[in-house]
Amino acid sequence: MSNSNILNIELIKKSLKTIDIARSIIYLEQTTSTNDIAKKLCSEGHHHGTIIIAEEQTAGRGRKKNRWLSIKGKGLYFSLILEPPVSSNVQLLTLGAGIAVANAIEKVCSVDSRLKWPNDVYIQNKKVAGILAEAISKRNESFKVILGVGINVNHDKRDFDDEIARIATSLKISSGKSVPREQVFVEFVSELAKIYSEIAKGKTSIVIKYWLDKALYVDEEVVVETENTSVVGKFIGLNDAGAMLLKDHNQNLHEIWAADVVRCRNI
Ligand code: BTN
Repeated sequence: MSNSNILNIELIKKSLKTIDIARSIIYLEQTTSTNDIAKKLCSEGHHHGTIIIAEEQTAGRGRKKNRWLSIKGKGLYFSLILEPPVSSNVQLLTLGAGIAVANAIEKVCSVDSRLKWPNDVYIQNKKVAGILAEAISKRNESFKVILGVGINVNHDKRDFDDEIARIATSLKISSGKSVPREQVFVEFVSELAKIYSEIAKGKTSIVIKYWLDKALYVDEEVVVETENTSVVGKFIGLNDAGAMLLKDHNQNLHEIWAADVVRCRNI
């Protein structure tokens, strides 16, 4: 697979042709945000197994209304449309996508990455990938999840401004060489397909176990900042649905479903 600056989309399609969650792959040279395009396509009747991948995003979005740096030809920016069985949940899919990113990185670059709850992938304390999951639930229509994934692949340090350089890395920076984006994408989709089928069969404990095996801060003291408050406690694991379990100093157990920042207390 090539290191060129333009994705070899035919090669990607050929490599993924038997994979159910990648039935239709739509390639865009430039777009605002692949999540926004995926939402539009859902409303036009596109279903499970559509992936929108862009060479460049002009309005890439992250969580908390952050922007996602989406420089042309450097990263992977894509969104999957999935229709999970009703019983499974968005949180588990987000965790599953994190595992798939980490496994793809390991396979293609032999670099160890870690997962930070709920949806960040880190290499040596710097963020390399993020996931933005958005649920679409409309009357008389099947429940859909848009799973947006951004991976910093061939960014050089000079591609990041000073603020981003402090917190972000890329596969090229951490492995010391250019990385074929096609290969990372194909491995990601193949890994996610395996995890998705476990989730669809209700085998959620396997997903939780895989995730915890790669997690940052387990058994450590953390501060979790939710929308209204912050909780300090020991990160003791996840519940069956992927919520974070925190034990505070009074031994009270907190189930955290959505938090903006999770960090070690003393850093
Ligand atoms: C985060 O870490 O805050 C989530 C980042 C998600 C970025 C990806 S890039 C592809 C997709 N389209 C977007 O606008 N965002 C997601």
